Amino acid sequence: MDSFLIEGGRPLHGEVTISGSKNAILPILAATLLTPDTCRIRGVPDLSDVRFMLQILESLGAETKFERGMVTVRAAKVRGFGDYELIRKMRGSICILGPLLARCCEARVSLPGGCVIGTRPIDLHLKGLRALKARITVEYGYINATTRRLAGTTVFLGGRAGPTVLGTANLMMAATLATGVTVIESAACEPEVTDLANFLVSMGAKIQGIGSPTLTITGVDRLNGTDHEVIPDRIEACTFICAAAATRGEVIIHGARPDHFAAVIDKLREAGVQIERKAGTLRVTRPGKLKPADVTTMPYAGFPTDVQAQFMALMCLAQGTSVITERIFESRFMHVAELMRLGAEIAIEGPNAIVKGGLPLSGAPVMASDLRASAALVIAGLAAKGKTQVHRIYHLDRGYERMEEKLRKLGAKILRVAGE
Ligand code: UD1
Repeated sequence: MDSFLIEGGRPLHGEVTISGSKNAILPILAATLLTPDTCRIRGVPDLSDVRFMLQILESLGAETKFERGMVTVRAAKVRGFGDYELIRKMRGSICILGPLLARCCEARVSLPGGCVIGTRPIDLHLKGLRALKARITVEYGYINATTRRLAGTTVFLGGRAGPTVLGTANLMMAATLATGVTVIESAACEPEVTDLANFLVSMGAKIQGIGSPTLTITGVDRLNGTDHEVIPDRIEACTFICAAAATRGEVIIHGARPDHFAAVIDKLREAGVQIERKAGTLRVTRPGKLKPADVTTMPYAGFPTDVQAQFMALMCLAQGTSVITERIFESRFMHVAELMRLGAEIAIEGPNAIVKGGLPLSGAPVMASDLRASAALVIAGLAAKGKTQVHRIYHLDRGYERMEEKLRKLGAKILRVAGE
């Protein structure tokens, strides 16, 4: 398993371009199963999760091509059963359930396992699809779903922690080919859900209320092929901003959509980070010392859970105490113990992490536990004195396109070490 070797303490300087959004492209790729025609998607990041999803589509009968950031999918014929091993490996693959049911009237996918950031239930996905008249059983680790034809209805999809992103995606995709009208109440409003909705509309779907908590979908008999450019990855943009601020560098960010992460920008400014918009770019600097800031993760447009770990790494460097509250995933603090190995002082009390910032960080070997936790360790490693080795960076490869190359271009000393 590869690791990153980082020699910290060097400010990042230069320019970086943000890649297409991982969380937008995965459901969009699943949506290509809804039509026998050809779909072309541009701006696709080369990530292991994207490669996995393309393999899954192929195992379901689709033809795929991925060249120079453009994916072409033609799912002329599709079967409801694919390569379970592949499907099991990637949680995002749950979003093939809705399109398969809509297109083939049957689907069998493996139940996504738990992961380190929490139990990750799928009860809301199943509730939504059952409301559309799917018969679903869960047996021997598989979800078996069949329907004569999906039928529109009104479903409230909010859960204990608020709306569900992939649950909304699944149901919205299923509803595009259902009979009648489906209303999804308490739908997720994340930009990635909006991007998927725009993709579906470009295929001929009828969706109203895009970007709002109430989505109204009028089913159609057939969807057509389309051409689409995926939105930029807001989480990658926030990660690079945190890295620039942590190392006290000056970084120009190209291709980001700051309107997709206003809550993060607001908190970063409170913490003393300067972010200036200029001709479609963002210039990130940190003129003085970092100040502590309290953060609570929330559904969009609140502070995203996917930036919680990176922001915590930054707050380890602020002069004073910050309280970081995780409200979306109950055990998303795996990075805390590893940040402490670098010298941070953090206490966990229920959903709160109390970060006593300002202590000097020094390099150490650390273990990445999930995608965003890994990003936090890279940020801390870049700011720490000496050498940090981040093990198990396959997590990072799932969601960051060529992260070490982008960081090296910004002047970081970071190496990929093979097979450790
Ligand atoms: C997506 C993102 C992930 C992000 C998360 C929250 C992708 C591929 N992943 O994950 O990066 O961290 O949104 O913004 O887009 N829940 C239920 N029942 C369900 C489904 C979810 O109780 O059936 C709960 C979850 O446990 C969690 C909350 O709802 O507490 C939000 O989860 P959800 O929005 O579904 O996350 P994902 O869509 O899996």
